Amino acid sequence: MTDLVVRPSAKGLLGSVPVPSDKSIGHRALLFSAVADGTSTIKGFSRGEDNLSTLAAIRALGVVVDEVSATELRVHGVSLRGLRQASAPLDCGNSGTTMRLMTGLLAGQRFASTLIGDASLTKRPMMRVIGPLRLRGARLDGTPNPARPSELTAPLTIHALEKNARLRGLEYESPVSSAQVKSAILLSGLDAEAATLFKEPVISRDHTERMLRAMGAPIGTMASVVSLDPTGWDGKLAPLDVDIPGDLSAAAFLLVAAQVVPESRVTVRDVGINPTRTGLLEIAREMGAGLVVDPSNERGGEPVGTLHAFHAPLVATRAGGERVSRAIDEICIACALAARAAGTTRIEGARELRVKESDRIAMMATTLRAFGVTCEELDDGLVIDGTDNPLRAAVVDSGGDHRVAMTAVVLGLLADGPSRIRDVDCIATSFPRFVGTLRALGADVQVG
Ligand code: S3P
Repeated sequence: MTDLVVRPSAKGLLGSVPVPSDKSIGHRALLFSAVADGTSTIKGFSRGEDNLSTLAAIRALGVVVDEVSATELRVHGVSLRGLRQASAPLDCGNSGTTMRLMTGLLAGQRFASTLIGDASLTKRPMMRVIGPLRLRGARLDGTPNPARPSELTAPLTIHALEKNARLRGLEYESPVSSAQVKSAILLSGLDAEAATLFKEPVISRDHTERMLRAMGAPIGTMASVVSLDPTGWDGKLAPLDVDIPGDLSAAAFLLVAAQVVPESRVTVRDVGINPTRTGLLEIAREMGAGLVVDPSNERGGEPVGTLHAFHAPLVATRAGGERVSRAIDEICIACALAARAAGTTRIEGARELRVKESDRIAMMATTLRAFGVTCEELDDGLVIDGTDNPLRAAVVDSGGDHRVAMTAVVLGLLADGPSRIRDVDCIATSFPRFVGTLRALGADVQVG
């Protein structure tokens, strides 16, 4: 297990850096091109461990993928009915997106599959995809959670459909806003015998809708309702030629570091700025953050821009509802903004954080307190008292959660001495070059 030693920043973070390509879009590009009719080209592929789990899974299902270079893949799509049974359980590693989207894709196949994951993924709730998929005729089993037997977790078994059987049409209103649930249901609907209608409380990230529509799938959207009607469609997904933009969820750690470390000026180039993902930018702006978004172009149906961040005095805010949902992966690092803002920041409506790679509400409360920040844990969020005094140098454990680990590193830049962040190998799930990137900006972060 690797630890990082972070020293307080004596000077501002300065520079212009890239970030790994968008993890969410990367998963989708791989999965959808696997079942396309023809060969897709994926450029700018990130080798974060989560995306590599999806790559290994499609290969295990008989899809040939050429690695043209470290970042360019050629995926030889096998069409919607061309996947083959894997010879071993599909290991989704730490990736909830891999497991939930795969479940949707495999639910209507005429072969059986088993999905497994690491200790963290094995604790995560899967009934949210199993329930609706069962309603349309899929046969799935999971492992009852001992604490809540009605909840099923991995390992998951997806039984084969009868020969010539297809999944039924489905109208489903999800109690949670979740792009993973939405995507699983839409994937299961591509080869169903009738239409799928999916509704969620507020719109979750819409990469699936954008990409499937660009590939020719009969998808319609209206606010948080998505429809997919395959009747009359030839069932052929056109291959992709996509250059994946940078990941705003990775950029967020650098942008916030620039806000909180005095005299910083950081530019992150070529980042996806899809509005279903930009909640953090809005929350940060409301807190007075120095942030300029410079939109450049569209790539593969996704808006892209360059982001400039500079240190600015911050004020507390209240964040909840739809904005928090559009910042769901950025709430950990938003806590670092709150720790530096004048006044008390309240983040609510984020109950989903309890079932991410860790219980992020509990983990952030522990981490903030270790750095001497006063905070209160809510059932669905956190209340954080900001301070402009140096934080207390701390020894903290990431709990195996990449976003907790990276947030702790940023907090360490503000401390009154060296801090130790334990168990940081998890950072490689989404941002393998995080430490190198921070060092390039001038931060003192060492493996130790
Ligand atoms: C993701 C959706 C979100 C997000 C996760 C990636 C995706 O999860 O937290 O990191 O790629 O679809 P939920 O669908 O559970 O909200």
